[in-house]
Amino acid sequence: MPSPTLHPDVAHLSFLLGTWKGSGKGEYPTIEPFTFTEETVFGHVGKPFLTFVQRTKDAAGLPLHTESGYLRPVGAERAEFVVSIPSGIVELAAGTVEENRLVLSSTGVHRTATAKEVSATERAYEVDGDTLHWTLAMAAMGQPMTHHLSGELTRS
Ligand code: HEM
Repeated sequence: MPSPTLHPDVAHLSFLLGTWKGSGKGEYPTIEPFTFTEETVFGHVGKPFLTFVQRTKDAAGLPLHTESGYLRPVGAERAEFVVSIPSGIVELAAGTVEENRLVLSSTGVHRTATAKEVSATERAYEVDGDTLHWTLAMAAMGQPMTHHLSGELTRS
């Protein structure tokens, strides 16, 4: 199998590439705090986007949240993100890349008729060597933009 060459348009996002494993914790004013383990893969297929798949498990080792999508380059310093979540949410976001740090704000959160109310999100992914730190805040369930999640992963 030939392996694709990284598309030059995603060069500024290449610091995210790899299989990342670790753990995280979550909280929100409306729910009990929790912890999780996580595996996230940022990949590429030689096209001008990165692929993204995140899988998490709860303390008992059972599947918890999962999401998948694509990071799309916009010029050499910006990116768009499209991600789908099985709880009936599709998140569209855009942001900037600076010093191995990607910061995204939602440009639209779309929900199925039965999905819980989420109106906006803010995400940050920062790589330091082989460590990835990420955070997610959301305006949801009648709350203003409030921290929901953080994770620390190691590139394997
Ligand atoms: C690592 C990823 C995530 C994990 C492990 C996680 C985990 C959880 C857990 C355990 C709960 C409480 C139980 C439940 O309602 O199911 C929860 C609630 C919730 N999460 Fe997350 N979540 C993740 C990502 C997200 C994302 C990306 C969004 C939105 C874009 C989101 C939106 C919500 C909402 C709206 C609730 C309901 C809060 C309520 O009922 O008051 N979560 N999450």
